[in-house]
Amino acid sequence: MTTTATPDEHTAQDGQQHFDIRAFDAPLGAEVVGLDLGKPLGAQDFARVHRAHLNHHVLVFRDQRITPEQQIAFSRRFGPLQAHVLHQFALPGYPDILIVSNIVENGKPVGLGDAGHFWHSDLSYKEKPSLGSMLYAQELPAEGGDTLFANMHLAWDTLPGHLRRAVEGRHAEHTYLARYAELQARSPWRPDLSAEQIEQVKPVLHPVVRTHPETGRKALFVSEHFTTRIVGLPEDESRALLDELFAHSVRPEHLYRHVWRERDLLFWDNRSLMHLAAGTPDHLRRKLHRTTIEGDSPF
Ligand code: SIN
Repeated sequence: MTTTATPDEHTAQDGQQHFDIRAFDAPLGAEVVGLDLGKPLGAQDFARVHRAHLNHHVLVFRDQRITPEQQIAFSRRFGPLQAHVLHQFALPGYPDILIVSNIVENGKPVGLGDAGHFWHSDLSYKEKPSLGSMLYAQELPAEGGDTLFANMHLAWDTLPGHLRRAVEGRHAEHTYLARYAELQARSPWRPDLSAEQIEQVKPVLHPVVRTHPETGRKALFVSEHFTTRIVGLPEDESRALLDELFAHSVRPEHLYRHVWRERDLLFWDNRSLMHLAAGTPDHLRRKLHRTTIEGDSPF
């Protein structure tokens, strides 16, 4: 992946860190080089990171050596954290960190092994879906394990007129349970949900086209993982329309594929993107720590 330095190129002043933000040659994404997230970020550095996050939608912080406490502290700078409903896979002692991993130890999965196997925006099934997520590499496979991102602003901007007219002003239902049984049938990672967990993930309605609360840009907001129907349309019409929207969203020209490097920490904007775990060969180990920051109610 080639990169270009943005006009954001920067000279450190007192109390600031010297770091570069380099946009990828892709429809989204930038890498942040030279910033140590283990140190508290001053107001100016934080403002630069925040702006870059809004501009590029996914930031790849290279070469981080941070503790769970430091990941949590950095995440909290953007808003309150959301604990995942599958609390079984929280990092012990850290309910706000979800372990994403295919590793099984003593017959027990150490984390959620099939997270992200369908395109989605994190926690879109909540009244207040996630603003953004941070995923920090702990152990990476020698091959595979990439994460794909789709730019949902571009998906909206390039949506053919007849599809725009079909969805404008409409709402769709999102539910965590949409594909749960399907995932459970084919993987060892999905426990049965308790009544309390099911209560936490009741279906919600969100606009099909949302407005980013900070940039004002519009984005398509439906996903193959969690969106079940478009409200007010007959079932077959709703299904056909959703399939067209899903296919359009993930056209190659909307995508960035992240090939992980040791000590990468990714921070993406769930209001602008969908993502997908591309898959890891079963015999290779992969483990990452995820924090999720609460966003607003989509409008
Ligand atoms: C996720 O959906 O948060 C997991 C993505 C990944 O494992 O690459």
